[in-house]
Amino acid sequence: MITVNEKEHVFHLHNGRMSYLFYVMDSGQLGHLYFGKELRSDGSYLHMVEKAHRPMTTYITEGDLYTSYEHLRQEYPTYGTSDYRYPALEVQGTDGSTLCKLEYQGYEIIPGKKPLPGLPATYVEEKGEAETLEIRMLDQWRGLEAVLSYTIFRDCDAIARSVRFINKGEEALFLDRAMSLSVDFPDGDYESVQLSGSWARERSIITRPLQPGVTAVSSMRGNSSHQHNPFLALKRRHTTEHTGDAYGFSLVYSGNFLAQAEVDNYNVLRVMLGINPFGFRWKLAPGGEFVTPEAVMVWSNQGLNGMSWQFHALYKNRLARGYWRDKERPVLINNWEATMFDYVEDDLVRFAQKAQECGIELFVLDDGWFGARNNDRAGLGDWKPNPAKLPNGIKGLAERIEALGMKFGLWFEPEMVNRDSDLFRTHPDYIIQTPGRSPSHGRNQFVLDFSRPEVVDEIYNQMYALLSNAKISYIKWDMNRSISECYSASLPADQQGEVFHRYILGVYDLHERLIRAFPELLIESCSSGGGRFDAGMLYYAPQGWTSDDSDAIERLKIQYGTSLVYPISSMGAHVSACPNSQVGRNTPIETRGNVAMTGAFGYELDLNKLSEEELKAVKQQVVFYKQNRKLLVQGAFYRLLSPFEGNFAAWEVAEHDGSRALVTVTRILSEINGPYRRLPLLGLDPDRKYHIYSKYLSYEAYGDELMQFGLMLEDQASGQIIEGSGGSGSCEDFRSLVYEVVGL
Ligand code: DGJ
Repeated sequence: MITVNEKEHVFHLHNGRMSYLFYVMDSGQLGHLYFGKELRSDGSYLHMVEKAHRPMTTYITEGDLYTSYEHLRQEYPTYGTSDYRYPALEVQGTDGSTLCKLEYQGYEIIPGKKPLPGLPATYVEEKGEAETLEIRMLDQWRGLEAVLSYTIFRDCDAIARSVRFINKGEEALFLDRAMSLSVDFPDGDYESVQLSGSWARERSIITRPLQPGVTAVSSMRGNSSHQHNPFLALKRRHTTEHTGDAYGFSLVYSGNFLAQAEVDNYNVLRVMLGINPFGFRWKLAPGGEFVTPEAVMVWSNQGLNGMSWQFHALYKNRLARGYWRDKERPVLINNWEATMFDYVEDDLVRFAQKAQECGIELFVLDDGWFGARNNDRAGLGDWKPNPAKLPNGIKGLAERIEALGMKFGLWFEPEMVNRDSDLFRTHPDYIIQTPGRSPSHGRNQFVLDFSRPEVVDEIYNQMYALLSNAKISYIKWDMNRSISECYSASLPADQQGEVFHRYILGVYDLHERLIRAFPELLIESCSSGGGRFDAGMLYYAPQGWTSDDSDAIERLKIQYGTSLVYPISSMGAHVSACPNSQVGRNTPIETRGNVAMTGAFGYELDLNKLSEEELKAVKQQVVFYKQNRKLLVQGAFYRLLSPFEGNFAAWEVAEHDGSRALVTVTRILSEINGPYRRLPLLGLDPDRKYHIYSKYLSYEAYGDELMQFGLMLEDQASGQIIEGSGGSGSCEDFRSLVYEVVGL
């Protein structure tokens, strides 16, 4: 998978479908050559380097009027000589100089892939699945070594990158910018695609044409954020969901990030991704090391959906890990939207009992069970059950739930503390705050300084005591505010720029320790919904609460957008009560079920309050989900109709061999006497006959017809007359149907 042209110093990573090429320049720096559809491995490519004599240019060597870093496409650029674009690396020595020049020293090819210490990363199970190229670079003047690591995967069109820095000099160095990835594309004629939004409306798809200058998304909040996801894609103007070139860049990280595309005066495009340099400064003492988070770049010539498959395949199978990775996920019920903080043990058992009657498998007790937590002003930090609500403790409640034949899950917000808590009273110094300034609060809470190992230990010990004492099968790990007044009492002045990153390392450390101690525990990540829904979290928690907005119609966009990068098995999705608590909308129970089922499925309402008819629907949904969850976790996901573009949302999940598919179609607003509609499907066998079932339809057709002419949509929504309706047709907003397409 990795070919090295020793004569020309060209490195070629290829896997039969995709190529990535770079070379060593005469000056020793690395130049970028190509990224895209595979090129032949015996080719010679140095003529791709474009450099000409141009006015107003700074050249590297006296007498040479052709060679300027400003004109050369680079691989891991630094600043200070003649490249005036944003660099991947910025380093300052104790002399104050920021000049840096990395020169090639050698390379190594390693079968498989090494783990990244303390950081989430993709992995292999067998060495043959991937090959890793490590390029050793050195700034001789400073003694800074940089090892650039590239892993190419055999079965997936993805390259994982990271950089390890080692200070081999005698003086401290400061890394002010250390990106995980940088790629220079020969032209900037692309549109960028980002996932942006806010609390309760996360990850909307936003597409904009690149223009000269910088297009960027970032977070400086301490968490990857609701506002922007650590991801950026590039597509050509004519690229669609299913055709054309698309590149995706995703950071396997949960803290501050920067994803940036810069188009220069020669229309060269530089993409970079990594820890946000704003607020970052890492002190590298002599002998010290720093490893960047991993960034994954994928390519597809099958449009944005093709890009998503690469991410889904890699993240589902080689980022998510452990006991739950390939397992069917339990149908859960969570009490939050039904009860908020107001409950006692018997209420919860009644709640769970009804759920058990409906076939639900896991009861999750959300916020409010611990310390003095009767509202959001107290209790965080005191992870001991409140005896007034739970007289038999968590152990007693878990036993009652298990006796119903269900599993028991519990909510935590490990990184936070309320002023009104025993933990704060004992250790007021444990929070992130700047000395002499008053700390801002979010939801009346403060952020514990997880950059300090003793703080992580304290929370680990509390969680361990509970998890080892009661039968807890699942935890929901919440995080409900961003960091402010960032400063750690445990670090000296010249290391305060490390706090954001050290904080995230502390979060990862706690996750890792819990997973080691309780390998069968299912962890669902959460951050006021989707404020930290990122690839970093997926390494520890195979599912995440996608958004605090549980309205089925809002969820169409949220889940559709999220699917650009993340597999549907990772998206927690629940049926909640109507009118919906976030937007006040009423939607049919079928629609709520259909939308939530293309996710890690569950309920978030009091089933005791449903009508007999609704309960019947819930029971049918649970049966249907259980019959299909294997497909829903492992199948190939196709986006068919975008809720960002019209009145319909449609998606399909198909077996990889095309033997079966489920197609979910939701019409948002009803329309009267509209057109007949067909929906071309994907991923079926053209020569195979299929039976199509839906609530109202049943017919047979070959795969070629279903993919070309399309699935014929039942169309009551647009005014089709139904027998017995009095001839007026039937209209209703927010209708949705699932079509089963079963190979015969
Ligand atoms: C925010 C989460 O997103 C909700 O699902 C719920 O767990 C609340 N926190 C509880 O405080």
